This record gives sequence, structure tokens and C-alpha cells, in this order.
Amino acid sequence: MLVEVEGATVVYRRGNAEFRAVDDVSLGLERGEFVTVMGRSGSGKTTLLNLIAGAQHPTSGRVTVDGRDVSSMSDRDSSRFRNERIGYVPQRHGLLPSLTVLENVLLSTQLYGRGKDPEEAQDLLDRLGIGGLSGAFPREMSGGEQRRASIARSLMNGPDLILADEPTSDLDRESARTVMELLSRINESGTAVVVVTHEYDAAVYGRRLLYMESGRIRDATDRLESLRSGMAGAFFGLRRGFAGKRKGPCRS
Ligand SMILES: Nc1ncnc2c1ncn2[C@@H]1O[C@H](COP(=O)(O)OP(=O)(O)O)[C@@H](O)[C@H]1O
Ligand SMILES: [Mg+2]
Repeated sequence: MLVEVEGATVVYRRGNAEFRAVDDVSLGLERGEFVTVMGRSGSGKTTLLNLIAGAQHPTSGRVTVDGRDVSSMSDRDSSRFRNERIGYVPQRHGLLPSLTVLENVLLSTQLYGRGKDPEEAQDLLDRLGIGGLSGAFPREMSGGEQRRASIARSLMNGPDLILADEPTSDLDRESARTVMELLSRINESGTAVVVVTHEYDAAVYGRRLLYMESGRIRDATDRLESLRSGMAGAFFGLRRGFAGKRKGPCRS
């Protein structure tokens, strides 16, 4: 098993009240799986992804990735582990504005003094269709291009696992499709992929579907078929995503 989440709970305090952003979640992920996590804004999706990434510790419960307990690692160890083994594509693209795309992609390899080859980074950018933008700054690129650059960065260390948080959320339909097809190809080459989304056009790329509601998770893979035929929107209470493009910023 690549990822094992065992009874993970995250308790937050809001004013005087405590609530569980993630509530007793257990889940296993095999190598090479492609899983989608859906759920409305505020249901705990990002928090769950952070737990798997080791970027956040659960209040109780345990998370292991490839046998390593990321739920109790020090910040320093978990940053390193994440950097070497996990590709994290954050909800905002997270590129550093003062660095070019190529420098952004190379950054993670330089952090721990392993200084990888710029040619490898350039090759990755070429394969993602943004090779011509390697010298550009993030502000000079469209949302879709930034997202692809962020995916390139996440792939740089050849991770076993990609965690992508709403990778299509601010993209037009065409860019959204490109990004999802890209994640599918990465998955076909053996990397496990977890995509968090509340758009069901994005969800259909996964082979397993999980649904989060008020911090709790359940399997909804049996809904994938109806999702593919566009029938499940009412069930999930979700909007269509790429098809009807949004107005205004997305809150999630
Ligand atoms: N650091 C925090 N402190 C308090 N509440 C938080 C914090 N981070 C997230 N939350 C709350 O936890 C819930 C789950 O958040 P999140 O995991 O970001 O949901 P999602 O990604 O599904 O939109 C939300 O109600 C959010 O407002
Ligand atoms: Mg979120």
C-alpha cells in the first residue's frame, strides 16, 4: 500500500466551538491508482491532502506514505520527504513570482543540494507543451500555463505520488482538459494520482471516486458511470465545472 490513512481527525477551533475538518477518515491508496476526491467547498478536501502530504499533522490518527509515518515526522523531515517522494500541486499554482518558469521547476531539486540538470527540467516543460515559456515569469503566463508549470515542478523529482488540489479550478475548458489529460498520462506511467476537485468534468478521469462531506469520506465509485453521462450533478449538488465556465473567483 502506498498511502494509508487510519482514523485521521483534524480538529479546528472557530470562536469557542470546535469542529472536525477531517473526521475519522480511513483510506488506502495503492501504487499507480488514480483517485478523485470530490465534495463541496469546506468539506475538508484540502486538509485531507495536506495530511497525506505530511504538510499538516492530524489531531489524532495516523498517515503513512510508503511505510513512513508522515503524521509524526518533524517539519524538516516531512518537507524533505515530500520534496523527494511526493509531487504536490497546490490549489493556487504556488510559483515564485520572481523566478522564471525554469528556475521554479529547478527549485525543489536545488533545495537539498542535489542540483539537477536544467536540461531535464527543460525536457519536462517541452513535454508539457510549455517549453517555449521556460524563460517567462509566472505573471506573463495564462492560468493554464501556470498550472502546467506547477505540474512540471511537481514531477521534477520523479514522485511516486501526485497530489493535485483543484488543478482545474480557475482554468477555461480547454486548459482544464489539457491538465486532466496530462495527469492521466502521468498516472499511466505508474505514478499514483489523487485529484481533489468539485467539478465533475474533472472527476471522471479518476478510476475511484471518493466523496467528502463535513470531514467524513465515503466511496462513491458506483456514481462514476452516471457522472460520465452527466447525470450525477443533482445527486452531488455540484456544478458542471469546465462546461459552464465560472464568473468571479472560486471559493474553496
Ligand atoms: N487553519 C484553519 N483554522 C480553522 N479552520 C480551518 C483552517 N483551515 C481550514 N479550516 C476550515 O476547515 C474546513 C475544511 O477546509 P478545507 O480542507 O480547506 O476544505 P475544502 O478544501 O474541501 O474546501 C473549512 O470549514 C475551513 O474553513
Ligand atoms: Mg480546498
